[in-house]
Amino acid sequence: MSQFLHLLTILLTPFIIHRAASSSIVFESLNSIPTGYADDGPAPVDSVLSLRVALVQNNVAGLHDALYAVSDPSSGLYGQHLSSLEVEAFVAPTLDTVAAVVAWLLTNNISAKPATPSGDWLSLSITVGAANTLLATTFHSYTQTSTGETYIRTLNYSLPSELQNHVELVHPTVSFPGAATPNGLISPFRTSRSIPRSTTIPAECAKYITPACLQALYAIPTTLATQPSNQIAVSGFAGRYANLADLHLFLTTLRPDLNSSTTFTLQSVDGGINPQNASLASGEANFDTQYTVGLASGVPTTFISVGPNSTDTIMEFLDIITYLVAMDQPPQVLTTSYGFNEIILSPALATNLCNAYAQLGARGVSILFGSGDGGVAGLANSTCTDFVPTFPSSCPFVTSVGATTGLNPEAATTYSSGGFSNIFTMPSYQSAAVAQYLDTIGSLNAGKYNATSRAFPDVSAQGTNVGFAIDGAASLMTGTSCSTPIFSSVIALLNDRLGAVGRPPLGFLNPFLYANPGVFNDITHGSNVGCGSTGFPAEVGWDPVTGLGTPNFTAFLNVLGL
Ligand SMILES: *[C@@H]1O[C@H](CO)[C@@H](O)[C@H](O)[C@H]1NC(C)=O
Ligand SMILES: *[C@@H]1O[C@H](CO)[C@@H](O)[C@H](O)[C@H]1NC(C)=O
Ligand SMILES: *[C@@H]1O[C@H](CO)[C@@H](O)[C@H](O)[C@H]1NC(C)=O
Ligand SMILES: *[C@@H]1O[C@H](CO)[C@@H](O)[C@H](O)[C@H]1NC(C)=O
Ligand SMILES: *[C@@H]1O[C@H](CO)[C@@H](O)[C@H](O)[C@H]1NC(C)=O
Ligand SMILES: *[C@@H]1O[C@H](CO)[C@@H](O)[C@H](O)[C@H]1NC(C)=O
Ligand SMILES: *[C@@H]1O[C@H](CO)[C@@H](O)[C@H](O)[C@H]1NC(C)=O
Ligand SMILES: *[C@@H]1O[C@H](CO)[C@@H](O)[C@H](O)[C@H]1NC(C)=O
Repeated sequence: MSQFLHLLTILLTPFIIHRAASSSIVFESLNSIPTGYADDGPAPVDSVLSLRVALVQNNVAGLHDALYAVSDPSSGLYGQHLSSLEVEAFVAPTLDTVAAVVAWLLTNNISAKPATPSGDWLSLSITVGAANTLLATTFHSYTQTSTGETYIRTLNYSLPSELQNHVELVHPTVSFPGAATPNGLISPFRTSRSIPRSTTIPAECAKYITPACLQALYAIPTTLATQPSNQIAVSGFAGRYANLADLHLFLTTLRPDLNSSTTFTLQSVDGGINPQNASLASGEANFDTQYTVGLASGVPTTFISVGPNSTDTIMEFLDIITYLVAMDQPPQVLTTSYGFNEIILSPALATNLCNAYAQLGARGVSILFGSGDGGVAGLANSTCTDFVPTFPSSCPFVTSVGATTGLNPEAATTYSSGGFSNIFTMPSYQSAAVAQYLDTIGSLNAGKYNATSRAFPDVSAQGTNVGFAIDGAASLMTGTSCSTPIFSSVIALLNDRLGAVGRPPLGFLNPFLYANPGVFNDITHGSNVGCGSTGFPAEVGWDPVTGLGTPNFTAFLNVLGL
């Protein structure tokens, strides 16, 4: 907090501005307008822009070291998660940085306020005209052709050279919200068939998946969790709302052994709401709440609804993390079934978000994201030649979840996204597992991916034709959107067992998972197609379709000594 107070002091103190003749440098740029956008010309100069400025954090390497120290089971500090103040100490900007940035803003007669407890992000509201001057650019209006939504962005912006080592990025500038499928990985299937009640492994699991199927397949307990402080949170983005009547129907139909009044609590970010009009129920939000409340039996579940006051999906991703980082006791598991193609985020913005996930991981939060539903083409981009990685899955500090289908054998789905980042280098926790895979496939797909980068997904779970309720009826959903809350619920139940014996939650999962491949059912059939190729095949051990495999709860308990 001391940095925060310093920052405020500086903001409120008349300042002697030290002005060297400064040159401007291009800070971030795009070569051309992203696919799927049309340029409507310069934005009106009197439009108001909500800008965020990311300041350089004082010790990101220290944050990464601390994260691995508490997440690697071979470390003496395993499980000794950091406090919020300990994390803030790594990410707070130095006073030199704060002074340089504040001086620049004051010179331009602009006031800003800290957007995070550590002061590593500032927020400011200024007109497009003022932003054009501040960033030596001309903001344009761009229309996303698929949605008709208009965004104010620029293809490049500049900052005075003396800020080069003090600012990481300004948003929104060169990161345009995703194209064809901006907000999610959902592909709902509607069916008139009702979902039968069942508590044993039902024959219908061969046709569609229910909580009972998952409990049998992955040995997930049906008994209630006992630790009220152990929580799971669901990200709700892009105006997708979770319907309580549908949750009740789902529980009555598919978890008749649970109290059918079990529900989730709502948390709001950016004015987030959760209206209950049946017509506003979303497949994604319904599924995610039903498979957390309904599978992580008895684990308190929170639906975090972001918006409508956020300006775009990228801002929603920033704001939910800012909100969680500012919490004294963030939920121990966060499940998110939304993502982007990595290419739509500037490397600086992707890196900043990835480090925000690292901050939560260091505090003992498991962050899980769906890997995407377009196979090696990312979010269903069929025009590619090179494979298209997705984000946040490509961030080494999250756990990426791919999708499987079938029971005998359980196999990779063709749509399960996976591959290799073009931004993040390979973390050491996965280097041996990935090397073995690359050795197995040899020259297959060579040149279409960066073999030395962070590879994903890390794990997988059933994703095809999973039963849930929407609009008062049974439906089926398909996608890594299904797999992610399922796997996340397994982690939440394990955290409950750990909490019951006074042990810390699993936190950032990956070093533990790669060190214990025996806790998975290895998936060795199927491949993720895309970009005119057959993609990556599932193989013995880790693969970029199903990761290490699907969970075996009993094996997890054994390895954890529970
Ligand atoms: C600074 O901004 C304030 C409020 O917008 C305005 O009244 C003032 O004239 C500005 N000063 C300069 C030097 O631009
Ligand atoms: C910045 O973008 C503009 C188009 O908006 C372009 O004319 C200019 O060449 C770009 N400058 C750089 C350095 O990329
Ligand atoms: C079911 O849950 C509701 C809401 O939490 C509670 O009021 C009710 O007492 C519970 N019923 C039983 C039988 O536990
Ligand atoms: C959201 O925006 C509305 C309309 O501008 C405003 O009334 C409300 O206070 C905002 N809520 C939050 C939490 O910012
Ligand atoms: C949702 O329901 C509320 C309250 O009944 C109503 O005011 C609102 O117009 C409805 N919105 C939509 C989009 O149907
Ligand atoms: C689709 O893939 C191509 C080739 O990899 C890439 O250039 C393009 O940016 C991608 N489009 C989107 C919207 O991600
Ligand atoms: C590998 O990553 C670099 C950026 O780090 C990118 O320019 C290049 O296109 C990528 N190669 C492939 C085959 O995707
Ligand atoms: C799950 O793990 C347990 C304990 O290691 C083992 O006995 C069981 O066979 C495993 N289940 C499957 C489906 O492999």
